[in-house]
This record gives sequence, C-alpha cells and structure tokens, in this order.
Amino acid sequence: MRVFLTGATGFVGSFLVPELINAGHHVVGLSRSDLGAKALARVGAEVFRGDVNDLDRVRIAAEAADGVIHAAFNHDFSNLMQNSENDRRVIETLGEVLAGSDRPLVITSGTGLARSKTGGLAVETDDHATSAEFPRAASEEAADTLIAKGGRVMVMRLPQVHDTHRQGRVTWHIQTARRQGRVAYVGDGMNRLAAVHVSDAVRLYRLALEKGQAGARYNAVGEEGVALRDIAEVIGAGLKMPVVSITREEAPAYFGWMAHLATIDLAASSVLTREQLGWNPTGPDLLTDLRNMDYSLAR
Ligand SMILES: NC(=O)c1ccc[n+]([C@@H]2O[C@H](COP(=O)([O-])OP(=O)(O)OC[C@H]3O[C@@H](n4cnc5c(N)ncnc54)[C@H](OP(=O)(O)O)[C@@H]3O)[C@@H](O)[C@H]2O)c1
Repeated sequence: MRVFLTGATGFVGSFLVPELINAGHHVVGLSRSDLGAKALARVGAEVFRGDVNDLDRVRIAAEAADGVIHAAFNHDFSNLMQNSENDRRVIETLGEVLAGSDRPLVITSGTGLARSKTGGLAVETDDHATSAEFPRAASEEAADTLIAKGGRVMVMRLPQVHDTHRQGRVTWHIQTARRQGRVAYVGDGMNRLAAVHVSDAVRLYRLALEKGQAGARYNAVGEEGVALRDIAEVIGAGLKMPVVSITREEAPAYFGWMAHLATIDLAASSVLTREQLGWNPTGPDLLTDLRNMDYSLAR
C-alpha cells in the first residue's frame, strides 16, 4: 500500500516508518524540515515536504495514497485549543479526500480522552470527552463526523508510549522532578497510567491500517495501569532524588498545568483491540524502560 504518514518524523512516526516498510508498504512521510526529510530518506521513505496545516499540500499527498495514518500533532500545550482545532481541520481534509472509497484513514487520539462508563478501565466502546471539556477531543469529533458519513476511519487511542528515551507524559514528570528537586505523587499514588511499548504501538497502527474496521476505536494498551507511586519510585532511583507523597492541594504548585492529570486514574483495557486485530503486545513494560533509562541524558 502507498501510505501517507503525517508525524513521520516524530517519536511514534520514526518507529512506524520502518514497521510499515518492513511489511512491504511504500511510505510517503510528511516533513516540514530539512532535518526530518533527511532522516526519512535515510530509512527508505519517500519524503513529502510540507506543513500539516497547509491543507492543500495535505490534500495532494492524500489523493495519491492508498491509505493514510495521521500521527502529527503540535504538542505546544500553551496553545492546545488552536492546535486541536487545527488537527480537526486536517482530519476533515483527509476524510474529504478519502470519502467514497475504502481507502483507510487511521487518526490518533489518547486513551485518556475516553469516558469510562464504569468508572474503571477505559474500553474501546467508551464515548470520548467533548472538545468543550478538553480541546484535544476535537480529533475524535472530526473522526465521528467522517464515520457518520461512511468513511473507513479508525481511531488509534494511545496511552503513554514508551521506550528508554521517551515515555509520554512520564517524561514531563521527570522534567518536573528535576526542577523541583524531588519526585512527587498525589495521595497514596495508586492512580494509574495505561502504557504501551512503542514497538507494540506501531505494530497496532499497521494492523489497523491493513484490516481495521470502519468506525473502530482501538486501544493501544500493553499494560492496563501502572501506579503513579511505582513510577515515581523508579524515577526517584534514577534521578537519585527523594520520593514524596503530596496532597491534592499541593499538586498545582508541584505539577503546574499537569496537576489535575496527576490526580486521576487513567487505566485502560485493550481486550477488544486484541480480539479484533489479533494484536499481542510483547515489548518491555514501562517500569523496565524507566529502570533502563540513562538519566544523565534525560532532559
Ligand atoms: N507519545 C505518547 O505517549 C502519546 C500518547 C497519546 C497520544 N499521542 C499522540 O500520538 C501522536 C504522535 O505522538 P508523538 O509522541 O510521536 O509526538 P511527537 O514526537 O511530538 O511528534 C509530532 C510529529 O508531528 C509533526 N508535526 C507537528 N506539527 C507539525 C506541522 N505543523 N507540520 C508538519 N508536521 C508537524 C512533528 O514534525 P517535526 O518533526 O517537524 O516537529 C512530528 O513528526 C500525536 O497525535 C500525539 O498527540 C502520543
């Protein structure tokens, strides 16, 4: 398949490119920089130069593709609303181009956006938050619109994606600990984060592209929930810093904008995803990657 991949130069994308190429796909990777273009060419991808918000460029690349994976996102959280609305427009544009065909479009979201019906593990069939509650849900809303119109659109909900260099939100916990001189969790620290090794996440993207069902939500969850206290203890050992419990009231001063996230449980299940796509995650778990990280390099 000729696959147009946005976000090809990012953390997930840089693992997804070889995953797709090794499975026999031709990857056309979007890059807005010379550096990104060189990296993509080096691993055998065709480079398509452009900014993801240049919708005419996006349209041209999608028209020539047999399938699209959209994994680009601007993670400047000081501008989250605008970046999320931009993402909505990118997804709408991709959907317009692919409409009326069975060419697949896989877009990216997060397991943290699901609204668990049981208050426990988030599952694939859970509704998502609205963009009024949380701007990043704009991408899910754009997918809903395309799915309602009959598009072959799948949503990949990612938890914390990790290797020994990057661990999603946990990377910010490490940066916060460096600034604060101690590693904190809130209360008893039993609230959890779902996680997946990056090698497993990209295999799931490929499976969704190849055999995903229109309208499906997939949870790329390798581990249902890792307690924030366990994460803090491993980080504390790595940074050689004290590990402390703080109260909810103290959380904003320590975590800043992440304070609310640090207090909630974000565990999720991938039972349906495994059944539907025959996916079996095998990569190392989050705590193993955190133990094996070189903390002198982690910034
Ligand atoms: N990593 C996780 O734990 C996690 C968890 C949940 C959801 N997600 C979602 O998964 C997706 C991939 O995440 P990631 O960790 O790979 O993110 P990342 O490392 O920050 O990569 C973001 C990608 O988007 C590209 N991009 C951003 N703005 C662009 C623009 N204006 N034009 C063209 N390209 C642009 C970046 O290109 P440059 O290389 O040029 O900057 C890069 O390729 C995102 O949708 C993210 O929100 C990730």
